[in-house]
Amino acid sequence: MSFTLSGGNPRTASLDTLIIPVAQSTKVPARIRDIDGTKLLYSTSEFTGKEGQTAVLYGALGIKAKRMVLIGVGEAKAVSPDTWRRCLGRLSRHAAITASTSLGVDLSEATTPENIQAAIEGYLLGSYKLTAFRTGEAATPPHRVDKAMLFVDKVSASLKAAVDRGLIYAEAQNTARELAETPSADLTPKIYAQRVTKLGKAHGFTVKVLDEKAIARERMGGILGVAQGSAEPPRVVVMQHRGGKPKDKPLVLIGKGVTFDTGGISLKPALNMHEMKQDMSGSAAVVGAMTAIARLKLPRNVIGIIGTTENAPSGTAYKPGDVLRMRSGKTVEIINTDAEGRLVLADCLDYADGFAPQAVIDIATLTGAAKFILGTSGAPIIGTHSRLMDQIRDAADRTSERVWELPLWDDFVKAMDGTVADLVNSASGGFAGTCTAAGFLSNFVKDWPWAHIDIAYMDMAFSDKPYQLKGGTGFGARLLADLAQHWSTVK
Ligand code: BES
Ligand code: ZN
Ligand code: ZN
Repeated sequence: MSFTLSGGNPRTASLDTLIIPVAQSTKVPARIRDIDGTKLLYSTSEFTGKEGQTAVLYGALGIKAKRMVLIGVGEAKAVSPDTWRRCLGRLSRHAAITASTSLGVDLSEATTPENIQAAIEGYLLGSYKLTAFRTGEAATPPHRVDKAMLFVDKVSASLKAAVDRGLIYAEAQNTARELAETPSADLTPKIYAQRVTKLGKAHGFTVKVLDEKAIARERMGGILGVAQGSAEPPRVVVMQHRGGKPKDKPLVLIGKGVTFDTGGISLKPALNMHEMKQDMSGSAAVVGAMTAIARLKLPRNVIGIIGTTENAPSGTAYKPGDVLRMRSGKTVEIINTDAEGRLVLADCLDYADGFAPQAVIDIATLTGAAKFILGTSGAPIIGTHSRLMDQIRDAADRTSERVWELPLWDDFVKAMDGTVADLVNSASGGFAGTCTAAGFLSNFVKDWPWAHIDIAYMDMAFSDKPYQLKGGTGFGARLLADLAQHWSTVK
């Protein structure tokens, strides 16, 4: 679908629906006072412009659109780009909009690139749904209007760029959601690698797939150890966007791509185990971000690396007590086969060093313990370099994908020291599980700035939100794309 900017008068545009955002007030705002019906509407106190409230007026005199939807944006001083994301997210499912083929949004009082981008993101995120596994009426794709006009005070190149970004960012996140929600039988590591290859062709990044033989040649003992219990062979997928100068050191993004985590021999309980089809959400965020980075042709070198495998119990599975030899040469005693994500990431981190990165960020549904830290409200981040952390925080503010920093204290690194092998993959007692997981990973980090984002429980929404219905969130795709967009060298 297409979004068009217009500097014209929204009242004279022929549209099915014209959306007019209004700030909260008890009196009719001046802007809509002359429109019939508004005085009567406000006199009923049914509509005060509280965020999320809507009122539909049909055939108002002087408005060419068939209907007009007033949408409350709440207190004027609290309006932010995320307000537009939320409002357009809600509207995308509103009966007036799903019955329309053309719509206009009057953004003339909110004309900034950030707001325009966010409004488009909200519309496309709010109307996302996975239909591939449905039949009958539920299989119909989400309604999208053919024509959406955004009325702004003055059309400019920077607003046009914001329109493109809004579309590309939302599609990146929806790609990540779709991958995450796909059942593991339909997204094995092999199928996943093929899907990424296709996305690379469609959006303009290069893709190299390491199959099980190549992974063995690379001596990626962590990935091979996790994969050995599964009938599905693992893959490592390397995506490259070379938008910078050939000599510029790349930013490397690494994602955990466990397509199903049963826990392995240290089997998980049955309750909610089906959610572990989403244990590849970190990698999906990286894939989504790479589509956006490539489509926007960002003037930077960015590399995405995903390690993808199943973690399954079987006669061939790795067992507690086994010692794995990692790509870096370090040895790890397996205490718990359910702590598999860190083994996959560790080999990817070591592999990343070959690209002489200027910084490395990994993202993963790594620890159940994250549930007790920020729950579903934000992702813990841990890293080695304050300017890198600042940049992630800034991207989180812009995208409303919230993060909060936890420390990487010596204790958390020491907790992973081994007795039989160099390291253990799970600390005794399970204290500070999110931090000790990062402590483990830090053993595979070289002298480049590094940050780790734990998105366990951020990758799924348990209740409906304005631009995120229940299901996979695709959290991190916009965050990483935005980070790459605003990137400044950290060393
Ligand atoms: N994939 C899980 C983490 C997870 C749990 C993500 C629940 C989302 C929801 C990870 O592989 C795991 O099982 N981690 C263990 C580590 C422990 C054994 C040290 C955990 O967090 O319990
Ligand atoms: Zn696990
Ligand atoms: Zn896992």
